[in-house]
Amino acid sequence: MTVCRPVSAPDVMARKGAEAPLVMVTAYDAPSARTVDAAGVDAILVGDSLAMVVLGYDDTLQVTTADMAHHVAAVARTRPNALVVADLPWLSYHVNREETVRNAASLIRAGAGAVKLEGGVKRIEAVKAILETEIPVMGHIGLTPQSIHALGGFKVQGKELDAAQALTDDAIALAEAGCFAIVLECVPDAVARMITESVPVPTIGIGAGRHCDGQVLVWHDILGFEAEGHRRPKFVRTYAEFERDAVVAIEEFCSDVRAGTFPSSAETYHMTDRMTEALGLYGDPIALDEPELTQ
Ligand code: KIV
Repeated sequence: MTVCRPVSAPDVMARKGAEAPLVMVTAYDAPSARTVDAAGVDAILVGDSLAMVVLGYDDTLQVTTADMAHHVAAVARTRPNALVVADLPWLSYHVNREETVRNAASLIRAGAGAVKLEGGVKRIEAVKAILETEIPVMGHIGLTPQSIHALGGFKVQGKELDAAQALTDDAIALAEAGCFAIVLECVPDAVARMITESVPVPTIGIGAGRHCDGQVLVWHDILGFEAEGHRRPKFVRTYAEFERDAVVAIEEFCSDVRAGTFPSSAETYHMTDRMTEALGLYGDPIALDEPELTQ
């Protein structure tokens, strides 16, 4: 009998250079976690993209550690086989060592198996502090949405030689500090390849081409949920149009209700005829000398 145990951070780390790329998909609640785990992903990222794709904010800066823990717990309660990685939100690891460790610990207590934070060389102290408490850390460099104001928008990073070298230095510093994997977001594929070949831990790309050790996408992007007017980035491949299909399904429900065809008799709880009579719904009530159950 094979015992199926959940994927761990060391399992993910051991996949460096493996033939089959790692797959990570975001999830934010029990239904999304069930779908990605049933599909067989290696890791579930409870991303701070929560702010934008679930909570309707314009950027990721609005979510707190408490918001993240709330959603991590919902994902963890589904007991997925995949590793649950939780994003440390903006300002949860920037203030001091104690706050950093406490915030990381609260995501682990909510059910995560690892945390992810954004930034390279600048964040090494935070990475080390978290690792000292035995919490595995995933890095994230390139386009780091928590730095949106400093970067001047959601833009491809590392396009110039100096910037590409700085990203490689960031990745090496994160790997040397002990990160078990590194997300590369929105960088040219040649840069992603250089980084992937420079570090002994898996790189997981989003908008970083095919030379990474794995790929990650956002659940809502894969399934075709998007706010009106939102432009799909070129790196997103959408496999379904669930937002459109959901509107069609709910329109059908509205028209069934308005036409009086919902609920049908089969979708309704009925009493026995005798009980109905006793309640006087179709005439005078009769005395009941024995209890009857509803059907
Ligand atoms: O929050 C998120 O969804 C992410 C992915 C884009 C990697 O960090």
